[in-house]
Amino acid sequence: MSSVLDTVDLSRTPTRLLIGGEWCESASGKRFATLNPATEEVLLEVAEAGAAEVDAAVDAAQAALRKGPWATMTGAERGRILHRLAALMRERSEELVLLESIDAGKPLAATRRMDLPAAIDCLEYYAGWADKITGEVVPTRRDALTYIHRVPVGVVGAIVPWNFPLMNAVWKVAPALACGCTVVLKPAELTPLSALWLGRAAIEAGLPAGVLNIVPGFGAGAGAALVSHPDIDKIAFTGSPQTGQFIMRAAAEHITHIGLELGGKSPCVVFADADLEAAIRQTSSGSFFNAGQVCSAATRVIVEDSIHDAFVEGLAKRAKTLRLGNPLDSATTMGPVISQRQMERILGYIDAGRKEGAQAVCGGHRVGNAGYFIEPTVFAGVGKTMKIAQEEIFGPVVSVMRFSDEEQALNLANGTAYSLAAAVWTRNIDRGHRMSHQLNAGTVWVNTYGPTDTRLPWGGMGGQSGIGRDLGRAAIDNYTEQKTVWLQTRA
Ligand code: NAI
Ligand code: MG
Repeated sequence: MSSVLDTVDLSRTPTRLLIGGEWCESASGKRFATLNPATEEVLLEVAEAGAAEVDAAVDAAQAALRKGPWATMTGAERGRILHRLAALMRERSEELVLLESIDAGKPLAATRRMDLPAAIDCLEYYAGWADKITGEVVPTRRDALTYIHRVPVGVVGAIVPWNFPLMNAVWKVAPALACGCTVVLKPAELTPLSALWLGRAAIEAGLPAGVLNIVPGFGAGAGAALVSHPDIDKIAFTGSPQTGQFIMRAAAEHITHIGLELGGKSPCVVFADADLEAAIRQTSSGSFFNAGQVCSAATRVIVEDSIHDAFVEGLAKRAKTLRLGNPLDSATTMGPVISQRQMERILGYIDAGRKEGAQAVCGGHRVGNAGYFIEPTVFAGVGKTMKIAQEEIFGPVVSVMRFSDEEQALNLANGTAYSLAAAVWTRNIDRGHRMSHQLNAGTVWVNTYGPTDTRLPWGGMGGQSGIGRDLGRAAIDNYTEQKTVWLQTRA
């Protein structure tokens, strides 16, 4: 496979830390490599933030929050900056699509169709909110004017994962900035490049120094320093349940606000009266989009007995049509997984599935020996308590189970520690409605799989899927505090 570095010019991509409006190296001089997961080649080396750099970034964010242009700017002005940032992303979207695709191993077409438009839409949506965040006058006594207004929650520490690096960063940064907060953003160590690109574009769009600071680094270094910092007011996190637990504990020390968008093991329940072809098509994309590295991936498909065999056959047939390959090749429909470690973890789950007696109807192996490619894999005969039915695999592996009545379907669907998303396929509207109420998930899809929209809140119902909501109006509530003012009068 030829090197992408022969065709892609990365010489202008920022690789230093952004702190207080300045690009800087870390004091230790440490740098770390980010790879292209399709080829395992090093794309760039990026400055590595540690505790000292996180301190400096938090100081800069605190200063920008309290004094200087950001503190006195109107909501309309903040909105205009966010709109300009969105416009720069749209104008240079091909450059950004390429950068994101090679750093995260995403097929170009998918990044173009999904990641970029979703990030831009999110920025524009919150740009629109910036001058519409209002309070309330609450009548209490005749001799007082009592009102509530919304003030920024403060300095936000945003920690994001590698599966949708840019989109996840924007999900936190856009509402935080719209609300007047300042941000220290730590991208995932596997995919730091699009966040740095975003930082540079934000400066160009007119964002004042210190409002958005970017500190690439590792979880145990920059990440841990950020979550235990006394001057961080809110931690906004997307990632694994384990790290979510660590963050919740760390946040207890200074009683910091937290939002935790964690894992999923989302069920997709298919009744015999469903549009079978559509259910197969969308379950396949729900399971294999982004090589299955999606928190809401369709990982447990629960199918009614009478259509079970036809469904499994159809899903396997569809999985085999996916073209696994280099993300830069236009024929590719599925790229690699993100890293050697994730690949080994996924292959470990595939092994566990076989050992526990499930049947791999298709896939089940690594492909090639350069790049982290795993075949789309469908398991049938999966039992409720098997590892592959209970734990988040975060790869292109789907577990099919069967049911004979609605109660059993619900019991299987709600039978994990996760609660992020769920789907039900049926032509019976009563049943679709009933199931949507009974499925334990922050989002339920009926007769579709996977659509999300900036305008709709997104998050888990607790447990391993986390707490809090991204997106929608909910994010405005989460990045502001209500402040009560009692103005005594002599009326
Ligand atoms: P992770 O939770 O360790 O990484 C996510 C982010 O958290 C990264 O920016 C990382 O540097 C940071 N982080 C790690 N440890 C930290 C700490 N102690 N303090 C502060 N920040 C820390 O996830 P990882 O290890 O990359 O993936 C493992 C599994 O997590 C995946 O197989 C998948 O099951 C799940 N995951 C879920 C995601 C989702 O979208 N809900 C995204 C990524 C991973
Ligand atoms: Mg990378």
